[in-house]
Amino acid sequence: MVVFMFLLFLVPFHEAQAQTNNFNITRGSSLRPTSNSSWLSPSGLYAFGFYEEGDGFAVGIFIPGIADKTVVWTANRDKDHVVPSNATLFLTTDGRLIVQVNEREIDIANPSEPILSASIKNNGNFVLYNSDQNITWQSFDHPTDTLLETQRLSADQKLFSRVSETNYSKGRFRLVMQMDGNLVQYPAADEDVTIYNAYYATGTNGAGDKVTLNLEDDGHLLLLNGIENIKNITPGGYPTQRRIYRMRLDVDGIFRLYSYSLNTRNSTPIWSSTRNGCAPKGICGVNQFCVLMDRDVVCRCLPGFNYISNKDRSSGCERNFTAASCKDVNQSVGYNMRRSENTVWENTPPYTVLQTKSVEDCEQRCLEDCSCDVALFKDQQCRKQRLPLRFGSTNIEDPTIALTKVGRPASRGNGVTRTITEKTKEIPMYLLIVSISLICVAVLVLAIAGIVFHGSRQSVHTMTNKIQNGELVDGVGLRKFSYAELVQITNNFDEELGKGASGTVYKGVLSDCENIVAVKKLEKELAEGEREFQTEMKVIAKTHHRNLVSLLGYCIDGSNRVLVYEFMGNGSLADILFAARDRLSFTERVGITTDIVKGILYLHEECETQIIHCDIKPQNILMDENMCAKISDFGLAKHLKQDQTRTYTGVRGTRGYVAPEWMRKLPVTVKADVYSFGNVLLEIICHRKNVDWNLPENEAVLDEWVYECFMAGELSKLVPDEEVDMKKLEKWVKVGLWCIQEEPSLRPSMKKVLLMLEGTVDVPIPPSPLSYLSSL
Ligand SMILES: *[C@@H]1O[C@H](CO)[C@@H](O)[C@H](O)[C@H]1NC(C)=O
Ligand SMILES: *[C@@H]1O[C@H](CO)[C@@H](O)[C@H](O)[C@H]1NC(C)=O
Ligand SMILES: *[C@@H]1O[C@H](CO)[C@@H](O)[C@H](O)[C@H]1NC(C)=O
Ligand SMILES: *[C@@H]1O[C@H](CO)[C@@H](O)[C@H](O)[C@H]1NC(C)=O
Ligand SMILES: *[C@@H]1O[C@H](CO)[C@@H](O)[C@H](O)[C@H]1NC(C)=O
Ligand SMILES: *[C@@H]1O[C@H](CO)[C@@H](O)[C@H](O)[C@H]1NC(C)=O
Ligand SMILES: *[C@@H]1O[C@H](CO)[C@@H](O)[C@H](O)[C@H]1NC(C)=O
Repeated sequence: MVVFMFLLFLVPFHEAQAQTNNFNITRGSSLRPTSNSSWLSPSGLYAFGFYEEGDGFAVGIFIPGIADKTVVWTANRDKDHVVPSNATLFLTTDGRLIVQVNEREIDIANPSEPILSASIKNNGNFVLYNSDQNITWQSFDHPTDTLLETQRLSADQKLFSRVSETNYSKGRFRLVMQMDGNLVQYPAADEDVTIYNAYYATGTNGAGDKVTLNLEDDGHLLLLNGIENIKNITPGGYPTQRRIYRMRLDVDGIFRLYSYSLNTRNSTPIWSSTRNGCAPKGICGVNQFCVLMDRDVVCRCLPGFNYISNKDRSSGCERNFTAASCKDVNQSVGYNMRRSENTVWENTPPYTVLQTKSVEDCEQRCLEDCSCDVALFKDQQCRKQRLPLRFGSTNIEDPTIALTKVGRPASRGNGVTRTITEKTKEIPMYLLIVSISLICVAVLVLAIAGIVFHGSRQSVHTMTNKIQNGELVDGVGLRKFSYAELVQITNNFDEELGKGASGTVYKGVLSDCENIVAVKKLEKELAEGEREFQTEMKVIAKTHHRNLVSLLGYCIDGSNRVLVYEFMGNGSLADILFAARDRLSFTERVGITTDIVKGILYLHEECETQIIHCDIKPQNILMDENMCAKISDFGLAKHLKQDQTRTYTGVRGTRGYVAPEWMRKLPVTVKADVYSFGNVLLEIICHRKNVDWNLPENEAVLDEWVYECFMAGELSKLVPDEEVDMKKLEKWVKVGLWCIQEEPSLRPSMKKVLLMLEGTVDVPIPPSPLSYLSSL
């Protein structure tokens, strides 16, 4: 109560003119957009009245007194509801609630009986009473996109998202409390009634039409069947003091629980229905597919298509050419096929399904069929269909390839159909991030250092020209190879060991000593290659540690850039952790972790210059034949001068392991590696990838799942069917959670990590690492 009194004084002060504390709104009362614009609840927290929308005003319920009035309800949102500043809201003497604009009257509510009085309640419910003092209408029965504390969504009621943050009309998504007891999300468009387009469901179908969605005052969002709890959606139990909760179906189709602090007057999301921004069907328009770039949703056009609107790039794409009509021409002339791999689409009839042997076959069949705009190839099936394609998104797990017919300049046509086999490969998000960031860095480097670059390359040349094959490079201590030698060593690059963003690694055998080596051939096209090459050489040449992969030699021959490393017989940690074959025992995982920690610690604290690796991930941790882990791939490393402890750098590294400060272009310190290591540690503990959408939703995102199990005291869920020393497990989980704290200064140093893991230092209870939800 004290809070509310305080608010009463604080809130309306500078807006005193605009608001009226009228707990019992009687007939004859009125509001104007510019003065006396709203009626306040007794607490002063909620207001009913005019708020600004677009270039006019709308009637609704909102939290007043803050700059971006949080609107929780809007009247007539499915109609044109924005009125000019000379409109007036009346509770008329004959008991109607209307807005009058230029003689025109617009009903705000349609109660069955005349209204005697109205009231805005402390929970944000706007209530109309009849002459018996009975409620004849209340806003809680007509929700828009928000549920407030104590509000419920009953059978057949729906929430619709907004068009945008500033346009409160009905948007693209809906959440329905179905008659069958299931809470389901769909795209909002009416023709999308088909259940196949659902993208979220509680799976409580069959529970009947008494099921309601409820929001309690501790943020507990749950499904009740009468009074029986049939499903928790949020865990609840959030602090109730000086906080209020609301649930909103957001513009992006995800519903979130928000916590509003009465102290700071800040509203932050604390829970969301999914972390996969591409999950809501319809987030992108027609002929587009959704790609996640880190956590941002990007809508891309199918090849051969342009954005319909460059301003709103999620509004769909259209062909950049005019297709010839079917009877006009021999269809197989004038078109090419382009591929977009790993994409998922709606099954929109009509379409024809053919059995084809190969993707080339499928392309050919579509080219020959003038009613085929796009073919979807998966499991030998070729589905020919017409545009538009809807609900596209990328999914690395899905092998579907979209084959799009694109126009070809007629002049080139020699009558022979030729398909472009170059893969458009829009897909793997991880790769995408890496390559895009590599390109960015490359462009930057080229832009600012083009000349320097040229110079330094020449100097490497002159330096190396003086040296005979097989000699050690002065001051670097590396053996120089000729390209011909490497061709021989690798048997003409015959056996591929792996592929990375920067190049391909081959197996080789040194003729003189029969030593097996790994030979990394850097991509020629990658301008980054040169820089990476030099960085890697400089950095690795100076580092010597048991847990770092050793560089043995290099080759600069014409345009070829090759690095020769010691051979690591057991592949990468990713191969071992994420493959379905035998699991490592916990003891083995302990050994590997200690190796990694020591390797990073060496880079951070024991080298001549401090080195931030910048790309710690399981793919860059290699295992030798004795299962000793060594860190590789210094191509991205940043080394700092002694007096420098932080660096600004473009976003590189790999999704899921990249520290949040990096994404925000804040200075990056060694703590960025600690963050990446924390993610790897959790993966090692749980023997799985940090994001895996094949798992149940609540387990899919590893850090969330680990924290949930940790808070619930159910760590054994993380290592099912395994005998693990629970004390040790708990300690490790705690260290992992400390490492992935959003705030870099909270993360421990690698030295501290080593001490904690080895048991010499106590590990305090970590705070939730999930506070980044607030920045969604
Ligand atoms: C509107 O506000 C003015 C000034 O605060 C006040 O004098 C007037 O009575 C109010 N009118 C209504 C209808 O509440
Ligand atoms: C509100 O005002 C009306 C008309 O003056 C009166 O009949 C009614 O009892 C009042 N209601 C409350 C809750 O005070
Ligand atoms: C809000 O969106 C609706 C539906 O898309 C549109 O008709 C309306 O013009 C928009 N209003 C404003 C103010 O942009
Ligand atoms: C109200 O404003 C609109 C334009 O915003 C104007 O066309 C109209 O004449 C005004 N009505 C009155 C009654 O002033
Ligand atoms: C008003 O509410 C009371 C109690 O809920 C009920 O008995 C009465 O019939 C209602 N009156 C009307 C006119 O609905
Ligand atoms: C249409 O798109 C294709 C593939 O993206 C491109 O090769 C072609 O030049 C584009 N044509 C026009 C007219 O923009
Ligand atoms: C279309 O053109 C191709 C290549 O010139 C030819 O092989 C094919 O028979 C033609 N098809 C029709 C229906 O004319």
